[in-house]
Amino acid sequence: MARDGGAADGDRPVDIGVRGLAVTFGQPRSVLSGVDVTVRRGEFVALIGASGCGKTTLLNVIAGLVPAAAGTVTIAGTPPAAGRRDICYVLARDALLPWRTVMGNVEYGLELSGIGREERARRAASYVDRVGLAHARDLYPSRLSQGMRQRVSLARAFAVGRSLYLMDEPFSALDSQTKLVLHDQLLGLWESSRATVVFVTHDIGEAITLADRVLVMSRKGTGVVDEIRVDLARPRSAEALQADAHYHDLYRRTWTSLKASAQ
Ligand SMILES: Nc1ncnc2c1ncn2[C@@H]1O[C@H](COP(=O)(O)OP(=O)(O)OP(=O)(O)O)[C@@H](O)[C@H]1O
Ligand SMILES: [Mg+2]
Repeated sequence: MARDGGAADGDRPVDIGVRGLAVTFGQPRSVLSGVDVTVRRGEFVALIGASGCGKTTLLNVIAGLVPAAAGTVTIAGTPPAAGRRDICYVLARDALLPWRTVMGNVEYGLELSGIGREERARRAASYVDRVGLAHARDLYPSRLSQGMRQRVSLARAFAVGRSLYLMDEPFSALDSQTKLVLHDQLLGLWESSRATVVFVTHDIGEAITLADRVLVMSRKGTGVVDEIRVDLARPRSAEALQADAHYHDLYRRTWTSLKASAQ
């Protein structure tokens, strides 16, 4: 039976409601069918599952980029639509503008939101600082490491203050040490934002470090087959969790479930 944790944090309103979702790419190519997912406002949910099981497709449906063939999807009570101003989509490959500095890139989203020059500069500087890049604020992307580039992406994403963040393997290209730093920075940004996050990853440790719930998707695209509630206290430290016995219990439990989901 699909379990999507609909009762999680029951006092908070549902932010994303997916019911009986089906997606097809040409006939009769069914990619998703019968998918149910509930995400509460302010919740951090991680999605894991075998390659090709439809994680990116699900994010694309929520973002309004791929249509549902059947079922209903609501985001903050309304249907998905491309270009919604309350949603920010962060991808594995950062989309930094090469002709803009770190500051210029973080300011870009604020410019698009129509925020005035002074407020833009103030807010961008604060977010650049929060991801530890104050020393690099005037550098262009070509001079940045992959980890620094993703930190700029995070700063840009959170500076614009959206209520829903869709993140598709944003740290997949990073080494494990750099990932831990980025995890702490993302957690810091998210904890002060109160935003909802749906985070796709293949990295079980990453899912547990970040999320309130980890949803395991079936290999066949038939939806969520298991849910792991991550009852680790917040605020969390990615590094400290490495030595936390309960973190490792959750890791094992998720690993077992992921293996079963791929059969
Ligand atoms: N635009 C498209 N046209 C046709 N088929 C597609 C399209 N996008 C995705 N697919 C197919 O849909 C299935 C699900 O793809 P999706 O990218 O959602 O998987 P995923 O779970 O994100 O995989 P990964 O972990 O490798 O990123 C795959 O079989 C893929 O080939
Ligand atoms: Mg994908």
